[in-house]
Amino acid sequence: MIFLIIGGSASQKLAANIAGELGDTLCSIETRKFPDGERYIRIKGKLEDEAVVIQSTGYPQDENLIELFFLLKNLKTLDVNDIKVVIPYFGYGRQDKRFRSGEAVSASIVLDLLQDSGASKIFTINLHENNITEFFDIPVHNLSAMPLIADYIKEILDDPVIIAPDKGALEHAEEIAGILRCEHDYLEKRRISPNEVETKPKNLDVDERQAVIIDDIISTGGTMINASKILKEHGASKIIVACVHPVLVGNSLLKIFATGVVDVVATNTLTSDVSVISVASLIADALRRY
Ligand code: R5P
Repeated sequence: MIFLIIGGSASQKLAANIAGELGDTLCSIETRKFPDGERYIRIKGKLEDEAVVIQSTGYPQDENLIELFFLLKNLKTLDVNDIKVVIPYFGYGRQDKRFRSGEAVSASIVLDLLQDSGASKIFTINLHENNITEFFDIPVHNLSAMPLIADYIKEILDDPVIIAPDKGALEHAEEIAGILRCEHDYLEKRRISPNEVETKPKNLDVDERQAVIIDDIISTGGTMINASKILKEHGASKIIVACVHPVLVGNSLLKIFATGVVDVVATNTLTSDVSVISVASLIADALRRY
């Protein structure tokens, strides 16, 4: 099956790589702003009945989302009926509940808007909260980049120990350790505020070991910084920090390196200095299969 691949501003190179993997046509779009800041979108390629739109919705989230909604609605009104949407990093994916009265459940609102805009199927990677797939009425494929991260680790480390910096990331550590047939463990973390986390020290068997700390997202870096310090105190000989989505707010990368980690690696769901693992083949395979 031949797809027309449309890459949004946030995922241009990844869209080109996916089109390359699939041997499909990459469609050109024109996207710019009017002098008052409003968005202009034009799809320039020849349209078929099916299209794939690729757009991560990380920073600037609102701009990337508006561009995505404009692309989808525009395709729909141009008579493209089957629109597959690939959102490698799903922004607004963390508020999956109303924690305090009156709060907007942003994950669910974004999903409603995507469905209303004409998406017929959604592909994404390591959603922060798995349960947000329940908000969708259309099929959603939540892919895991952990096997790609495991392959990368295999090339650079021999018999590492995989550490989850909190219990939520334990499933990721388990997945990687299962592939590499190595040990894993996790730390206990408590979030005090969006910018502050507390990680409890605990007995870890990492003395003189090479350790990889794995998480889905690095945002402020606080989670990784605490975990790296604890591993250092426990005698780890080499620490690598790995994640799927390098959100990397402010100078978080510098602060993580300053704890003595040897390297920080991430996938290219978001563009960053450490996006060294490509998810193009993962997405291309899923588009072929579903
Ligand atoms: C939290 O549950 C996530 O898995 C990450 O640990 C978190 O988003 C990382 O945030 P930060 O880098 O700000 O500590």
